[in-house]
Amino acid sequence: HGVESRDIEEELQELVQRLPKERFGFGRDENSAVYFYQGFWCPFPLFKATISFQKHFETLDNDIFLTTPLKCGTTWMKALIFTIVNRHKFQPENNPLLTSLTPHQAMPYVEVQFYLKNQEPNLSHIPQPRLLHTHLPYSSLPPSIRECPTAKIVYICRNPMDMFISTWHFIENIRPANEEPFPLDEAFEKFCRGVHAYGPYSDHILGFWKAKQENSNKILFLKYEDVKADTFSHVKTLANFLGFPFSEEEEKKGVVEEIIKLCSFENLKELEVNKSGYQAFGLPNSAFFRKGEVGDSTNYLTPAMVERLEKSVLGKFDKSGLTF
Ligand code: A3P
Repeated sequence: HGVESRDIEEELQELVQRLPKERFGFGRDENSAVYFYQGFWCPFPLFKATISFQKHFETLDNDIFLTTPLKCGTTWMKALIFTIVNRHKFQPENNPLLTSLTPHQAMPYVEVQFYLKNQEPNLSHIPQPRLLHTHLPYSSLPPSIRECPTAKIVYICRNPMDMFISTWHFIENIRPANEEPFPLDEAFEKFCRGVHAYGPYSDHILGFWKAKQENSNKILFLKYEDVKADTFSHVKTLANFLGFPFSEEEEKKGVVEEIIKLCSFENLKELEVNKSGYQAFGLPNSAFFRKGEVGDSTNYLTPAMVERLEKSVLGKFDKSGLTF
């Protein structure tokens, strides 16, 4: 253990000396630094935990992973996956999401929850199937997640304009009063260059998109806009994919609709458990619920900005068959 932990510390020191570094967010210290590691911008506060996770995580056959860029519907998917998988354990009115559990506790962000404190955490206490979340790009996932033929990955992404605006609002929302604002123009310029936590955004999306073409049983690839437009059919697809399909009887009883309502933006946002309290790094739970709509970016981006985003981000999807 001792040797191993010194190794990771030394590796980190060496990487920090050598890798390109930028700032994304408020603040001037290392907390707002991102390092270009393995082709993505890794937030410094999670750098060491990321390396530990990559080195030590062991996948179980029935693991369920949610992998997402930032601000694309992670909170929503966490609530839906937890509720679908545990629906026989909790009657709808007893679902702990209503009272004591935030979606982020229901499906923990692995690096933050386990690897920040401990390089080789004991994960054997987590009930199976384990519901776990990470923001890492596909190619940087711990190898055993990619290699395990039965472990599942749910991916959700979103229109780049809305993702960017949601990200910028989130950063502004969590900014302590004594920190300078993160100007929209500066955030935008960096976003277009791919410089933001777990960016470039287009690479994140294309990594999972390509992996999905190669192995469609392993990855469910979703877009926020599609799930919004037809939540019912996507929740059924999600349940099938996870191996927890709805029975005919459940469908007749309206279980699908019930789950959709429970996990809706309007419902979750107003629950005391989500209105109060904090997550790791002092992030207020309430910051994860803002507007929950498609197209809000049109209220913030000028036509020139949209054009630049179309070229720098949307253009990358040209040959992929992906559209937003
Ligand atoms: P907006 O900022 O556009 O409102 P993440 O959960 O990945 O951090 O993404 C946050 C985005 O999802 C925010 O978008 C947030 O409002 C929205 N969101 C949160 N909970 C939701 C839910 N239950 N249904 C739909 N959207 C939700």
